[in-house]
Amino acid sequence: MIDKAKLQIGENSYEFPLIVGTENEIAIDIKTLRGVTDGVITIDAGYKNTGACQSAITFLDGEKGILRYRGYSIEELAEKADFLEVAYLLIFGELPSKEELQKFHEDIKENSIVDEDVRKILDAFPKSAHPMGVLSSLTSALTAFNPSNDKINNIDYQRTKKSLYDNIVKVLGKIPVLVSWAYRKKLGLPLEYGDNSLGYVENILKMMFKKPNEDYVPNQVIITALNKLLILHADHEQNCSTSTVRIVGSSHAGLFASISSGISALWGPLHGGANQAVLEMLEAIREDGGDTKKYMAKAKDKNDPFRLMGFGHRVYKNFDPRAKIIKVAAYEVLNDLGIDDPILEIAKSLEKEALNDPYFVDRKLYPNVDFYSGIIYRAMGIPVEMFTVMFALGRLPGWIGHWCEMRLRKEPIGRPRQIYTGETQREFKNISQR
Ligand code: ACO
Repeated sequence: MIDKAKLQIGENSYEFPLIVGTENEIAIDIKTLRGVTDGVITIDAGYKNTGACQSAITFLDGEKGILRYRGYSIEELAEKADFLEVAYLLIFGELPSKEELQKFHEDIKENSIVDEDVRKILDAFPKSAHPMGVLSSLTSALTAFNPSNDKINNIDYQRTKKSLYDNIVKVLGKIPVLVSWAYRKKLGLPLEYGDNSLGYVENILKMMFKKPNEDYVPNQVIITALNKLLILHADHEQNCSTSTVRIVGSSHAGLFASISSGISALWGPLHGGANQAVLEMLEAIREDGGDTKKYMAKAKDKNDPFRLMGFGHRVYKNFDPRAKIIKVAAYEVLNDLGIDDPILEIAKSLEKEALNDPYFVDRKLYPNVDFYSGIIYRAMGIPVEMFTVMFALGRLPGWIGHWCEMRLRKEPIGRPRQIYTGETQREFKNISQR
C-alpha cells in the first residue's frame, strides 16, 4: 500500500504522507510543504484539485454519479425520507429515532418566532429587491435580534443544553419564516405566520401560499415534490457556498453570519442562481421561437458569452444523480397538477441535442440539479426570482452540518496563500510629479 508522495524540486526531494478516506480517495498532505521547502506553495485556482478539509458528512463520486449523505444514497433518501429527518442526519450524523425527530421538530417550532422589528427591515426593501438579497440581509439581521447567539462560546453539541443546538433550531425555525416573507413581499401579499400543527415542509408551503381570507388547502403532490427538492439540495460537500460558510465560520464568526454569507455565495448564476438562469434561458428561447439549435450554437461559440445554463458541473463528469431524480419528479408534478408547460419540451430538446453533441460529450457536460428544478418550482406557482431562495432553504442543513463539523474539529482559520504578480518595490512620487 502506497503511503507517501515524493516531490522533486531541482536537486531536492521531499516526502509527504498520504491521507486515505473511507471511500479510498487519496490526498497528499502538504501541510509541511512551505516549511521544508523554504516557502514553496501550491497554486490551484478555483480549488479544482485542493481538498480544504476532511469531512464525514457527504460522499460524492463525480465519475460514477454517486451522492450519499452520511452513507445513505440520495436515491433512497429522496424516495423514503422526510426533509427534517435528512436535516437531522446531516447535522448530527445519524437518522433520528421517532422521539428524537419529534423533539427536534418541537424545538424548531418553539424557535420559529421572528422578531416583529425584522418586519420593519423587510418593509424598508423596495418590492423590486431580489429575494436572495433580502434573505441574506435578514439572516444577518437575526444576529442583532439574537445577540447571545452571535458568537458561540459553548460549542457543546448536546441536544438539551443552551448551546450550539439552540442556534441550529433557530436557523431551521426562523429562516423558513424569512423565506415566506421574502416571497409574500415579492407578491405584495400580507405576511403569514406558521401553524404548529403542520409538518415542517407543509408549514413552509402554508406560510408561502395561504391566500388572505381563505383557508389553506394542502396539496399532497406539492408537499411531496418540495420535500424531495429540499432533500436533493440539502448538501453537496465542499461547493462554493458551503466552503464559504466553513471559511467565514473558521474566523469564529457566528452561525447566522456564516449562513448569511453562504446565501450570498449561492446566489450567483454559476452556483445556486443557475435554477433562475435556466428558467430565464428557457423562457427566452421560447419567446425567440423555440429554436434550440440556435442556442446550442451560441453555447459552443467561444466568442459568445452565452452558456447553456443547467449544464456542466465542477465534480460530476458523467451524470448528476440529483438531475435524474428531479427530471422524473418534474414529469410527475406536471402530470399530477395537469399542467402542460411548453418550457418542458424546450428543456427536453436541449438535453437531447446536448447529449448527442461532441462539444458537450467531449467536455462531459450533462444536465445538473438545476436544469429541471425550476420547472417544478414554476409548476408550484413560485416566481422565478424565488428559485434560488428555495435552494437556500434546502441547503440549510448542509451549511449547518459543515459549520458544526469545522468548529468541532477545531479547524484553523481559512487563509490561502498567493503568488504575487504585481509591481516590485518602487518609489512614491508626489502628485505633481506623476
Ligand atoms: N455551456 C457551454 N459550455 C460550457 C458550459 C455550459 N454550461 N459549462 C462548461 N462549458 C465549457 C467551458 O467553456 C469549458 O470549455 P473549454 O474547455 O473549451 O474552455 C469547459 O466546458 C469546462 O468548463 P469550466 O467552466 O472550466 O468548468 P468548471 O468546472 O470551472 O465550471 C460550471 C463548472 C460553473 C458548473 C460550468 O459548467 C457552468 O458555468 N455551467 C452553467 C451554470 C450552471 O448550470 N451552474 C450550476 C452548477 S450546479 C450547482 O451549483 C448547484
